[in-house]
Amino acid sequence: MAELPFDPADYSERLLAWYDRQGRDLPWRHSRDPYRIWLSEIMLQQTTVAAVIDYYQRFLASFPSVEKLAAAPLEAVIDLWAGLGYYSRARNLHAAARQVVEEYSGVFPSDPKLLQSLPGIGRSTAGAITALAFDQQVAILDGNVRRVLCRLLSWQEPARTSRAEKQLWSWAEMLTPEQRVHDYTQAIMDFGATLCTPRRPQCDQCPVASLCQARKLGIENDLPVKQPTKKTPTRREVVLLIEFSGKILSRRRVADGFLGGLWEFPALGFTDEETPESKVTLLMQDFALAGDARYLGQIRHVYSHFRLESLVYHLHTDRLTVNEGNGSWLSRHELEELALHGAHKKVLEILLNS
Ligand code: ADE
Repeated sequence: MAELPFDPADYSERLLAWYDRQGRDLPWRHSRDPYRIWLSEIMLQQTTVAAVIDYYQRFLASFPSVEKLAAAPLEAVIDLWAGLGYYSRARNLHAAARQVVEEYSGVFPSDPKLLQSLPGIGRSTAGAITALAFDQQVAILDGNVRRVLCRLLSWQEPARTSRAEKQLWSWAEMLTPEQRVHDYTQAIMDFGATLCTPRRPQCDQCPVASLCQARKLGIENDLPVKQPTKKTPTRREVVLLIEFSGKILSRRRVADGFLGGLWEFPALGFTDEETPESKVTLLMQDFALAGDARYLGQIRHVYSHFRLESLVYHLHTDRLTVNEGNGSWLSRHELEELALHGAHKKVLEILLNS
């Protein structure tokens, strides 16, 4: 592994001094309670601070302790997560809470290896919990830190290869100081989020600009190097919005499996050999419905392993003789509050704008 081209103590002192002046006052920073810190770290995975704060407060009001969370039904947790996205986080959170209560008597372990054995906690999140709650000298490498290190140490290859991971983790460890690990960890997160931003980093305000190897070479705006994009397959579906007396039929997906526990509208996939209209007809037969479904529009949604295109159809019925199965009739307002999965949130937008 490559060595550091500067004194890590010089670097961390500058970053800490900047944090003391400019660090953000965020709700989870007033606590050393591993439960609260864990919750905030899970919510902040793939989600911005601004989007998380209200959810964090509401979640804690409902589940003030890991015991309360473990005792709750999964559906209650998912419903509180509604709108935050990436719902596997909510399922993992709930499973991890149960594990902490059952295996550790409700006390979070302070060993990052043990934390990493809990659902939803990877190496960086385990590092963050250990550093933030227990002030132990453990490194993190989340998206912000990865970008910071790529610039600071002028890493000129894609940042997501296993070669890059090895090097970046090694640097992250070398740069984490022995003292004030909690503050240092918050500092580098804030630094990445506010100064060393993805686009147009504010180098004129950067406390470590004179150490930055990318800046020395004038390539700070070109790093990190873009990851080659991989081709993902596209799936297509028709979605049928069935309306009776101002209410729309929707249903919860089974708890285990993709998007488990989330709500959705009736939908059916179709291939290139099939027409969407034939699938709408099939769906209508499932519900014993007659009439003309009106086409409202199309949405696209990107998941990690495929893209989804949904064609949206709307059908009014004046009879409650449909086979509604395990579905619920919900008003537009109720749907807005519901834990719909992301693609069908966009479907709902189409309905609301129609
Ligand atoms: N992103 C991930 N963890 C965070 C934290 N503790 N504070 C701010 N942003 C974060």
